[in-house]
Formats: sequence, structure tokens, C-alpha cells
Amino acid sequence: MRVMVCGKGGSGKTVISILLARAFREKGYRPYIIDMDESNELLPVLAGAEKPRTLADYFGGRRGVMQALRDGEDRLVKAIGEISKRTFKVSEIERPYISYTDDGIGILVVGKIRELGEGCACPLNIFTRTLLKNLKLDDREVIIVDTDAGVEHVGRGVEEYADAIIAVADPTRESINIVKNLKKVADKLGKRFYIIVNKVPKEIENTVRELFQKEGLTPDIVIPYDEKIFQSCLLGSKLESSVAYENVKKLVDKMLSEVTSRCVS
Ligand SMILES: Nc1ncnc2c1ncn2[C@@H]1O[C@H](COP(=O)(O)OP(=O)(O)O)[C@@H](O)[C@H]1O
Ligand SMILES: [Mg+2]
Repeated sequence: MRVMVCGKGGSGKTVISILLARAFREKGYRPYIIDMDESNELLPVLAGAEKPRTLADYFGGRRGVMQALRDGEDRLVKAIGEISKRTFKVSEIERPYISYTDDGIGILVVGKIRELGEGCACPLNIFTRTLLKNLKLDDREVIIVDTDAGVEHVGRGVEEYADAIIAVADPTRESINIVKNLKKVADKLGKRFYIIVNKVPKEIENTVRELFQKEGLTPDIVIPYDEKIFQSCLLGSKLESSVAYENVKKLVDKMLSEVTSRCVS
């Protein structure tokens, strides 16, 4: 199963991606998180793993990816083959391009824009799409793509190769608008679509649900403020959580009963 985690910046995509991976792992699945965010660097630390070398570094950075693209998408496909010992299996990707948490969650990082003038993330988005399209998964493997805040990945069609899209929202109008747009994309592509509203104070949960409903959006789970999450993000240490994880586990149960992967091989 391939899952895209999308939504407004700061809504909790990275935190939720890690909790999703843990919940899938607990169910006996083998999750991999693909970090697609071109600027934030904390995902491996929060997940509790070493930082892997970025896949873009394989090409010598983002500019190298751009050059490879100019040579044709085949060049990207060839590189994915080389990284995975010609098998195209995500399980065959080796260090330094993957790292693992103690409990076996794989972490892959597409690439970071570190220098001024390195330009937009388009080549990295196209590379992610190529990855999702070409990586083979078995039926116990799950890829969770932690996207960046923008919608550039939508423009580049990354969602096309996902089996489900999860929209993460915080309780803001901006988030509601973004979720509306993501739902349109999911509907157009015929993808399963899930909505998580995160960081919702208990006393306004009903109001928040009503505001989403008014726009034709039904939240699948509503996550309250979780002190442990806040603390670990502040300290930059391995993510801890309490209530949030319980909610995410419920969503994973639902997904496992509803999403069938197109791409099982
Ligand atoms: N359920 C939660 N309870 C408390 N704080 C949260 C929760 N979810 C996220 N956060 C806070 O929000 C910040 C942004 O989360 P993050 O996952 O990095 O967002 P995104 O990846 O969407 O930009 C975190 O650094 C953390 O402080
Ligand atoms: Mg993030």
C-alpha cells in the first residue's frame, strides 16, 4: 500500500507519518517512510533513526536530479534500479540510502534544498513520482510519503501512484480550504481519501467537526493536543505520544479494511 500524507505546513504531517508507520508496524506490516519535504530535516530523528543519505545525493544533489531528468526519466528509473540491487524492491535498498528504526521502520529521504538559489522542488517531486511508480512492494509493505507543505507534488502528479491520500489539517480555515482541494484531487484520481484534524482542543471538537461537515468533509479522526508530541518536537528527540497514537491506530484499522493496493507484486 502506498499512502500520501498531505496538508498545510505545520498541521502535523511529519508527526502523523511516524505514528502511522508505528501503527502499521504494530499490526505486523513493514512500513517505509519517504521524506519528501525539501526543507525540514527532523523526520529521521523524530522517528528514532539515523539520517540516511538523500536519494538526490545519489545524483550529486538536486541539480544532479535535474540533469538526470533532462537525460530522460529512464535515467531516474535506472538509478532506482541501481540503489535496489536491480530488483526495484524497496526492501533491497541498502544503506546509506535507507536507515531503520529499532523496530524496523525504513526511512528514505528524497532530497533537501540546502543552498540559496537551488531553486524549486520540481525535480525532487518528479523523482518521488518515479520512485512510487517503480518501487515494488509486497502485500505486507507500506510506503508512507510525508509530503512538503506546498501543493507542488499535486501539480507533478505524485498522487497518481498512491493508493490512498491522507489530508492532515489543523483547526484553521486555511487547512479546510487545502483539504477541500486535496479531496478534489483524490476524487478525480479515484483514490481513497482520509481526513485527520490534528491539535484540536477538546472544547471545540464539535464546532470543528461541524465546520468541516459544512464543506462536505467528514473527519475520520480528530486528534487532541498531545503534550508528549509537543515536548519531543521541542527537544528534537524520538517522538513520544499518548492520545494521538490511539487515534491513529483506529485510522490504520480502517485503512486496512478499505484500501486495496493496486501495486502488489
Ligand atoms: N497532536 C499534537 N499535539 C501537540 N502538538 C502537535 C501535535 N501534532 C503536531 N504538533 C506540533 O506541531 C508541530 C508541527 O508538526 P509537523 O508534524 O512538523 O507538521 P508538518 O509536517 O505538517 O509541517 C510539531 O513540531 C509539534 O510541535
Ligand atoms: Mg513535515
